[in-house]
Amino acid sequence: MASLGHDVVGIDVDPDKIARLAAGTAPFYEPGLPELLAEVSGTGRLTFSTDMADAAGAQIHFLCVGTPQKHGEFRADLSYVESAFEDLRPHLAAGDVVAGKSTVPVGTAEDLAARLTGTGASLAWNPEFLREGFAVQDTLHPDRLVYGLPTDDEGVPTAEGDAARALLDEVYATPLSEGTPLVVTDYATAQLVKVAANSFLATKISFINAMAELCEATGADVTRLADAIGYDARIGRRFLNAGLGFGGGCLPKDIRAFMARAGELGVDQALSFLREVDAINMRRRVRMVDLAREVSAGSIVGKRVTVLGAAFKPDSDDVRDSPALSVAAQMQLQGAHVTVTDPQAVENARAKWPDLKYAATALEAAQGADVVVLATEWAEYRDLDPDALGGVVAHRAIVDGRNVLDPKAWRAAGWTYRALGRP
Ligand code: UGA
Repeated sequence: MASLGHDVVGIDVDPDKIARLAAGTAPFYEPGLPELLAEVSGTGRLTFSTDMADAAGAQIHFLCVGTPQKHGEFRADLSYVESAFEDLRPHLAAGDVVAGKSTVPVGTAEDLAARLTGTGASLAWNPEFLREGFAVQDTLHPDRLVYGLPTDDEGVPTAEGDAARALLDEVYATPLSEGTPLVVTDYATAQLVKVAANSFLATKISFINAMAELCEATGADVTRLADAIGYDARIGRRFLNAGLGFGGGCLPKDIRAFMARAGELGVDQALSFLREVDAINMRRRVRMVDLAREVSAGSIVGKRVTVLGAAFKPDSDDVRDSPALSVAAQMQLQGAHVTVTDPQAVENARAKWPDLKYAATALEAAQGADVVVLATEWAEYRDLDPDALGGVVAHRAIVDGRNVLDPKAWRAAGWTYRALGRP
């Protein structure tokens, strides 16, 4: 937003993050972000603070805190939303807009809006659709913008809603809004759009992973199947990559929180299919361990296993609900000696899973390995040379958890190659 010409203050309760950002360093790995920070540093348009009082004077306040899964439950933990909102409230002035970006159970916006009564500020719900690894691109060139506004009984934005819309329009002015579809709607729809979108994406991945199970049972190839059905524009090839399934801080917890909310609303049956989406996804992790066992002569006990990838997806250092680490930890629990490597996520992985061994590079991690497991499809793993890797391992056995390697090339180099959903 600073790069678009706005004056922005970023506030967080974590002093370490704020200090790093104030020094011009992104506190996490995100392609393009360091360049963007460098571009705006020196313009004076972007400052950082841990003091909510510094929000005073801003016309629009974006609420962007996380809503993780509540410990031991399916529901979302709204404590960060609550505390950020309560800390902000005393600093609001008449005419200010609070724009909610966090992914929340439907009903949260209505509740927050009611609690703005008397401040003169209003609430808009403006869900965020960026993907990690593409955050800069998705933010500056979004697929769509959604404004959830206060509406009257007919669903028409109130005067307050119109004012909030005008401010959002100013924030998202050209070039950002040029050619970007805008959906103006009520709070409930805006909140549901976000969880509906993530549920659809999760369902699409689990659908193709269910097909992968059929492929495994029949000798068919799920990558060719995905290509073939993906040519139908109504289906589309994107998000049809079968493999180890979805992880991260969004899709898994969002489908669970959505089911929990549906239950509270008395419509749990409407989302019971998401339970299956979750189950298919978790089964892929078990299958991955089974394949590692199969290529290790029936047992991974005492075997040296190399796991390529720790992040939940490439181009990210995020290890939240990472399928790669979940598989690595499971194999370690079952008696394997596991070494994990990742181009960016080793530090985060080590903090969360200190019992696993870590190495800086694929070749280092694979020294003396009995089996190599590709779990996160970083470009440098896709491009691995089977002979170079073959030179350091004890046995040439690989399980491709993301269907990104060329089976012919690896087999020609003497590898036992197994994958999820293809022969
Ligand atoms: C997801 C959504 O894609 C964003 O639109 C949304 O804004 C974001 O959640 C959010 O709620 O904040 P993200 O979690 O960054 O974004 O990652 P995705 O690109 O959606 O990938 C999620 C997982 O699905 C990854 O583990 C990835 O490996 C897996 N995946 C993705 C597959 O297994 N197959 C595919 O074909 C695509």
